[in-house]
Amino acid sequence: MSTHDPNKPPGGTGTGPAGGGSPKPTPPARDPAAEAAALAMFEDEEKRQAPLDEPPGRAEENMAQAAAKEAAAKAGAQAGVTKPVAHEAPVKAPPAAAPAATKPAVTGGAPVKMAELGKPLKKPPVVEFKNVTKTYGKGSSAFTAIKDVTFAIEDYPGRGEFVSILGPSGCGKSTVIRMIAGLLPQFPQTSGTVLVDGRPVHGPGPDRGMVFQDYTSFDNRSVLENIAFGLECRGLSRTITSDGAVRKQTVTKFTTQSAHGLDKGMKVTIVGVSDKSFNGPATVLATPEPTVFTVQQEGKPDAASGGGTANVPSLSRSERYERARYWIEKVGLSVKKDEDKYPHQLSGGMRQRVAIARTLILEPRIILMDEPFGALDPPTRSRMQDNLVALWREQSPTIFFITHSIEEAVFLGDHILMFSNSPGTVLKTIRVPPPDRPSIVMQRDPKFIDVVMGIRETIDHLESSNRAGD
Ligand SMILES: Nc1ncnc2c1ncn2[C@@H]1O[C@H](COP(=O)(O)OP(=O)(O)OP(=O)(O)O)[C@@H](O)[C@H]1O
Ligand SMILES: [Mg+2]
Repeated sequence: MSTHDPNKPPGGTGTGPAGGGSPKPTPPARDPAAEAAALAMFEDEEKRQAPLDEPPGRAEENMAQAAAKEAAAKAGAQAGVTKPVAHEAPVKAPPAAAPAATKPAVTGGAPVKMAELGKPLKKPPVVEFKNVTKTYGKGSSAFTAIKDVTFAIEDYPGRGEFVSILGPSGCGKSTVIRMIAGLLPQFPQTSGTVLVDGRPVHGPGPDRGMVFQDYTSFDNRSVLENIAFGLECRGLSRTITSDGAVRKQTVTKFTTQSAHGLDKGMKVTIVGVSDKSFNGPATVLATPEPTVFTVQQEGKPDAASGGGTANVPSLSRSERYERARYWIEKVGLSVKKDEDKYPHQLSGGMRQRVAIARTLILEPRIILMDEPFGALDPPTRSRMQDNLVALWREQSPTIFFITHSIEEAVFLGDHILMFSNSPGTVLKTIRVPPPDRPSIVMQRDPKFIDVVMGIRETIDHLESSNRAGD
């Protein structure tokens, strides 16, 4: 095993401190009055937008499951869910939001049924752009790349949205997602408001992970060391459910809101449980379920309480490497063959997968991917698409995914943002059903092909009008 240390972080995969390599942002030109007004307006806007932006109810993941079929039939009667046809018209969501997804442990597990897209939470959108314009340069060399870009990606219970971004070359797609990441020089915007979780973006943060098109890694670190890198500075934090702490005969069972990713023997610190007798340092006794772990709490009475978090302040080297090995396999590389290789010993597609794993291992809430699969051969690309869908189901991040492949956008996305040509603005927001079969199977479905053709015509039209204006 190599023990090379990094000289400096590469042009990183995370936008926060753990990802490394993010350019240091200069403080944004703040407009506190506008930001305060934007936040104050949130409640009103939410009420106004909720009925307009409700997604269709959809059955997904396992179409063979009778329950899912029944849900699809019920919701489909109103929402047209059984047809994978793009639509823009607002459609009523099913009456009740589906329960949150069951998530497997990060270290593996059976396929997961993802939560249906119920009603958005009564929270600010995960990402919101309000009349965002970006002009590069000044004076006679000023160039407006995006103009008045407005969209909102809502927060849904138990799942994130998969947002595909399509648009002609140069329309400002990278500008938009780098702004979300808080990366210079796209960030800060020239005018308008960019909000993440209702708060203005001030720069990169660990809640957002970026996979760049020109993927990069530490040249002097092995595959294993590259992927484990971000974890050196990061622990884990898992929210305990509202009634998720139950102690019987000195054994306490904690239930977490998402897969805890803990292993037997790991040291955790429990904080913030309403009944304070649950709080304090502990060692994981067992992990009977992906969202359940137990610890021994001697000398304390039987009790039940909830809330709080389980923190793992930092992972040991062996824990980091164990998680990194999981991700090596997850992105289709081989622990046995590849973990000790250095970037120069890998093909472009393999390096890209290392870069993807470096970001995903950090489990950011928002994953920003700028044409991440562009360099992959078709079979690898299909496999990576399927892997990404599986990951999305397991961890429920909100994903922004730029691609020039309409098939890829339609397959992966459940929300497609289509940008007009330069200066880019959101031309259309299209909802399509999320993937319910492997990429290669779904892309042969005639209905899927219809959706793709419709979008292709729009883009061809855009690109020809762009050329006409050149
Ligand atoms: N730092 C910069 N300075 C000046 N102009 C820039 C800068 N970054 C991007 N641009 C310009 O802004 C426009 C949008 O660029 P952007 O990279 O966002 O496009 P894109 O939609 O991602 O294109 P592609 O699909 O080709 O990657 C382009 O005309 C580009 O030349
Ligand atoms: Mg780009």
